[in-house]
Amino acid sequence: MNTKEIKIPVEVCSYGELSEADRQLVDKAKEMTSRSYAPYSRFHVGAAILLANGEIVGGANQENAAFSSGTCGERSACFYASARYPGVPFRKIAIAAWTRLHHPESDPDSECFQPSPISPCGSCRQALLEYENLHGPIEVILYGAREIYRLPSVASLLPLCFTEF
Ligand code: THU
Repeated sequence: MNTKEIKIPVEVCSYGELSEADRQLVDKAKEMTSRSYAPYSRFHVGAAILLANGEIVGGANQENAAFSSGTCGERSACFYASARYPGVPFRKIAIAAWTRLHHPESDPDSECFQPSPISPCGSCRQALLEYENLHGPIEVILYGAREIYRLPSVASLLPLCFTEF
């Protein structure tokens, strides 16, 4: 029997180490958390996608009383981007999130973004992968207030992915 080891390339950096363009994308993802509708989890996720035409499209999680009818911030962004600009490749996605539950003592108006990078759920990885397979790599920037992760593609977030049947 053999063992295969799968390694994921993750670059760890600070906000200040990002390029101006990447900071802009992260800022948009952070801003999009204010568009989240999350009365049930109170976990506010924002995502921003840079398209090949230079446009930046944002999304945020939208919850529902019938829980499974809601959707994540990442899928909200990628479905909106594809509907708004059909066929235009996605180049990069940035994701950010905050919740007050982890910071009950903090000033309600203060920023309380998750200290660790927010990582997309399996369904969002799969949804993003579809667009990556159509048009090429989508760089991923996972924002955390303490540190930021950068990955070269969605596939690197989803090893052994399902792509065809
Ligand atoms: N959520 C996202 O928006 N993205 C993820 O990758 C994980 C979870 C949302 C779904 C739900 O509205 C809330 O966060 C708590 O799970």
